[in-house]
Amino acid sequence: MISFAPDSGVWLLATPHTSYALRIDETGAPCHLAWGPRLTLAEAEDLVVPPGPETSSFEGRDPVGEELPVDGGTRYGPPSLQVRFADGSRAFEWQPEGHDIEESGPGESVLVLRFRDRRYPLQVSLHYRVRADTDVIERWTVVRNTGDEAVTLLRADSAAWALPPLRDYRLSHVTGQWSAESQLRRDQLPYGETVLTSRRGITSHHANPWVMLDAGEATEDHGRVWSAALAWSGSWRITTQRTPDGRAGFTGGVGHDGTTVPLAPGEEFTTPPFAGVFTEGGFGAVSRAWHAFTLAHVLPHPDEFAPVLYNSWEATGFDVDEVGQKALAERAAELGVELYVVDDGWFGARRNDRAGLGDWTPAPDRFPDGLGPLVDAVHGLGMRFGLWVEPEMVNPDSDLYRTHPDWVLHFPERPRSELRNQLVLNFARSDVADWAYGWLTRLVGEHGIDFLKWDMNRAFSEAGWPGRQDGADRLGPQYVRNLYGVVDRLRADHPALRIESCSGGGGRVDLGILSRTDQAWASDNTDAADRMGIQHGFGQVYPARTMGSWVTDVPNQLTGRTVPLRFRFHVAMAGALGIGGDLTHWSEEELREGAALVAEYKSVRHLVQHGRLDRLSPPAEDAEAVVQYTAADGAETLLLGYRRVSRHGSPKVPVRLRGLTPTARYRDTRTGTVHHAAVLGAYGLHLDLPAGDWASTAVHLVREPEA
Ligand code: GLA
Repeated sequence: MISFAPDSGVWLLATPHTSYALRIDETGAPCHLAWGPRLTLAEAEDLVVPPGPETSSFEGRDPVGEELPVDGGTRYGPPSLQVRFADGSRAFEWQPEGHDIEESGPGESVLVLRFRDRRYPLQVSLHYRVRADTDVIERWTVVRNTGDEAVTLLRADSAAWALPPLRDYRLSHVTGQWSAESQLRRDQLPYGETVLTSRRGITSHHANPWVMLDAGEATEDHGRVWSAALAWSGSWRITTQRTPDGRAGFTGGVGHDGTTVPLAPGEEFTTPPFAGVFTEGGFGAVSRAWHAFTLAHVLPHPDEFAPVLYNSWEATGFDVDEVGQKALAERAAELGVELYVVDDGWFGARRNDRAGLGDWTPAPDRFPDGLGPLVDAVHGLGMRFGLWVEPEMVNPDSDLYRTHPDWVLHFPERPRSELRNQLVLNFARSDVADWAYGWLTRLVGEHGIDFLKWDMNRAFSEAGWPGRQDGADRLGPQYVRNLYGVVDRLRADHPALRIESCSGGGGRVDLGILSRTDQAWASDNTDAADRMGIQHGFGQVYPARTMGSWVTDVPNQLTGRTVPLRFRFHVAMAGALGIGGDLTHWSEEELREGAALVAEYKSVRHLVQHGRLDRLSPPAEDAEAVVQYTAADGAETLLLGYRRVSRHGSPKVPVRLRGLTPTARYRDTRTGTVHHAAVLGAYGLHLDLPAGDWASTAVHLVREPEA
């Protein structure tokens, strides 16, 4: 999967359908040759061209085309690696030191290119992992200070990715805000540099660390797309670049503008992976590649299905107590719920968002005998028990803060800005991380808790770490590492524990957190219509298995919109289904319909959560939106269809199905009708949505045994 031609110095990384080639140029710098369709090593060597003549004294080196452009020499593009040495010198000069190709696991190998600076004691190694079952290539960088003086990395990106010269470039990414995450944008890539970033200390609702680039011609089904995603849950930055002479590429890594990475003597900095994938199959194929990669190589329990959960937040708010929760749990069990999650309000003096965060003992007035009786009742009803926690936070009105006012992010001479009446605990401090790990592992162990909803409800501010001179710079990466460390230790202590990543909805969704959690809460916005857009953006990279989606009450708390129960279910069934309504107010009919839809979801969730996603028609106000989930072997498929607004005379267009066995026939499990796959694929299926607004359907087709 990784080969090397000593004569030309070309390395070739082969994935099932793509190639990636690079070499070290005459100056010692690692340079990009190819990222695209499959090539042999000999073919890749054709791409080596001698450097052209200097065209003017103002150009310098090409700003796109190096594997990790440094600040140094005649380079004027955005550096991926920018160094300041103790004597004030800048710049890095590449001195190659050899390479290794390591078999790092079954069907998995890593290329490591080793370098040092020509003059200064600094080592840099570039890492590339390829696997036999995915076109995703993971890249990361390790920088090591081998001297006895401090070095500062003004920028330490994971990797830079270069595209071949194209006539035009288009950038796809998501923007958003709280309760409006994952809004897909697809616009021409501007000339110059475009920065996508989070300065909030978390992945953020406002941008998500992935990009897709194409020549402006790719569609859902066709065309070349280059994409990359950063596995990091703190502040980050991806800078895309489009040069006046028609090249494009991007660099990405941890931290935002103004943050640095201090490297003490002997210290090493390992960046998070910045994974990339190329496809010729359009945006649908690139999403499927990310989904398959996430399921196979990112999630800790790839074979499991997300359980149908109930969460009490929208039903009760902070009014959580044993009696009320038991009543909800009984109804949830009747609906077919498998995991019952108690949300915020169960601990300390937490009656609203002004007090109690940090005091993680059950509130005695609400749980007189602790959580035990409720946990037992939930288990007795045949459900798993889940609990909301927000370990990184503290309300100033809490015993924790009164005892440890120095544990929060702050600068001594600055105010401590509150958001949602809370401050951020400095998880970069090992004593804070150890404290969190301590109470969490006790809580989970003592009560037999099966699931944590791990929340994080505000952005960083005044992100200082007093007492450490370089604290503000160390804080960002160390915070995330310690967060990961606490989660990893918890999981090791409690192998059956499952975790949901939440940050006011979708503020912490990325390949880093997904490698140690099982699902994510995609948004606090549970309005079915808004959700369709949010889920469309979420699913560009992250699989439905990870996308928590609840059915809640109407009128929706946030939007005031009223949508029929069935439509709400069908939207939530496109991800990991949950229920968040006040079940004590559901009518008998609603409970019956809900139970039937939960049962239906369970019968098809293997397709939703582990199948292949085809977005047959994207969300739209007045047209049918259709998603299809299909078993890898084509044995079954599920179509979820939606039409928000009915318009007389609008064209009725059949949807053409994908991924079926072309010669087979498929039976509709509800109607019994049998269809030829050839017709479904080439001519399509009429979904026959019922009349009226808010029409939706779920169609499950199963391959007939061969006659
Ligand atoms: C965040 C979460 C919600 C809920 C509240 C509780 O906003 O996203 O789902 O847990 O916190 O305070």
